[in-house]
Amino acid sequence: MSRPLHLVTLVGSLRQGSYNHAVARALPGLAPEGVTISELGSVGDLPHYNQDENAKGFPAAVTAMGEAIRQADGIIIVSPEYNYSMPGVLKNALDWLSRLPNQPFVGKPVAIQSASMGPFGGARMQYHLRQTLVFLDGRVLNKPEVMVGLAQTKIDAAGQITDKATSDFIAGPLKAFAEFVRK
Ligand code: FNR
Repeated sequence: MSRPLHLVTLVGSLRQGSYNHAVARALPGLAPEGVTISELGSVGDLPHYNQDENAKGFPAAVTAMGEAIRQADGIIIVSPEYNYSMPGVLKNALDWLSRLPNQPFVGKPVAIQSASMGPFGGARMQYHLRQTLVFLDGRVLNKPEVMVGLAQTKIDAAGQITDKATSDFIAGPLKAFAEFVRK
């Protein structure tokens, strides 16, 4: 049997009815056998990054998030695209995490997923995020990519994915990510 894996998700939206959060919440139910998935704390719990404050130490929420990433076998970042890039709250979290000693992304398998109300599903955000993860030394899965376009037609107001093709489109890459993590 394959080695059991534990993955964590990091969500880049604070919106109550977030489509990206809905995707992240669906992941544990779509995971292949032997893979468990839990969600990290909210990026909204972290203060604005300020290097002067950082010189005095790290907020507990940053330390806890970093440790949870270190303990996990891999991380899935699920985020909207804001103005062709990642939301500031997600970048803020990555900026904090990047300054931790024993930086948690080094060599860590990372998958990126996005959902958007636009037709391109957040593709452009994914490439900006990849660029940041290069500097963080993350081991980012290249393919298959998960971009859910026109999310408002596939996820209902209760945050359920109502489109079977979308669930399948997310489940396949999850299996591929588990194999990538185990390599
Ligand atoms: C957006 N949206 C958006 N969509 C997109 O496909 N490309 C983009 O560049 C942007 N830019 C953008 C900027 C800002 C400030 C907002 C608030 C929104 C629309 C976005 O896809 C939509 O609001 C999603 O619903 C956001 O994801 P969550 O919050 O539902 O997960």
